[in-house]
Amino acid sequence: MKDTFEREITYLRISLTDRCNLRCVYCMPPEGVKKRTRLLSLEEIWEIAREAVGLGIKKIRLTGGEPLVRRGMVSLCRELRRLPGLEELTLTTNALLLPRMAAELKGAGVDRVNVSLDTLDAEKYGRITRGGRLEEALAGIRAAREAGLTPLKLNCVLIGGFNDGEIPALASLAQEEPVEVRFIELMPMGEPPGFGPEAYLSCQAVLERLPGLERLPEDGGIAERYRQPGAAGTVGLIRPLSRCFCAQCNRIRLTADGRLKPCLHSREEIPVRGLHGEALRQQIERAIRHKPERHGALSAQLRSEAGRAMHQIGG
Ligand code: 5AD
Ligand code: SF4
Repeated sequence: MKDTFEREITYLRISLTDRCNLRCVYCMPPEGVKKRTRLLSLEEIWEIAREAVGLGIKKIRLTGGEPLVRRGMVSLCRELRRLPGLEELTLTTNALLLPRMAAELKGAGVDRVNVSLDTLDAEKYGRITRGGRLEEALAGIRAAREAGLTPLKLNCVLIGGFNDGEIPALASLAQEEPVEVRFIELMPMGEPPGFGPEAYLSCQAVLERLPGLERLPEDGGIAERYRQPGAAGTVGLIRPLSRCFCAQCNRIRLTADGRLKPCLHSREEIPVRGLHGEALRQQIERAIRHKPERHGALSAQLRSEAGRAMHQIGG
């Protein structure tokens, strides 16, 4: 289905939980989730997804919080993958549980995963995730590769003064292997997490640090894609601050507490809990119609108008 700006909406991101086994500084408060959230049941999620696929959604991504900590999520994956018309089922995960779950997820029909990995330095990984262990994330990435949850994408949130010195090292992960290393500009979400203005670094910094990058044709996604000479994989730049990609936006989001968000950076939410059949379909159509043309400018000074922290929306 098209929105009012002629964008075909084909992508639904579903947050399965606002909880996580890490506490990334830019996503979660240090104390984690205090309040108990009334989560949609897995049956409710499936019902909403089925209606959305009926309206032309072709790709579903499960997010969180951390989607792998939601109990029963593998069965949900299996049910979602069976929806006629769905072409791709993916996850965004911190990979910590993948050594245990990767094979099962592949068996349930998950096509591939995006993994969050902001640094290759164990001490810094512990700092940015507030206590995570780098070697566990790396073991998870290996497990994903072995299970065939590929092509892998590795998400690095670019944070000035934290990991900009690691741009070449992170990009070199795409040298030998057909992975996409994606640098994502830090977005000013929720309460300010104590980053100074220097943290909100433009992806221009990646182009400056990697002068050999060759631009690749657009693939319809929101990332600008590049290749380093001789590399098996690619480097992607996601630039919500320095280059608005709203005109290509093809997605809507479902929060873990049952609200559709037509735009990540808008306060508008459309509740779908408790709706079924025709009423549910109409409400999803409403969410698609309500997609704003673009979000307001984002910068160190101009915070997102999302009205929620990232772990409550789905990164
Ligand atoms: N800015 C940019 N990306 C973010 N993510 C979470 N919070 C932010 C933020 N403030 C993204 C990361 C992570 C995914 C779960 O969400 O890429 O990999
Ligand atoms: Fe968890 Fe991902 Fe948020 Fe980090 S960014 S706290 S891994 S949901």
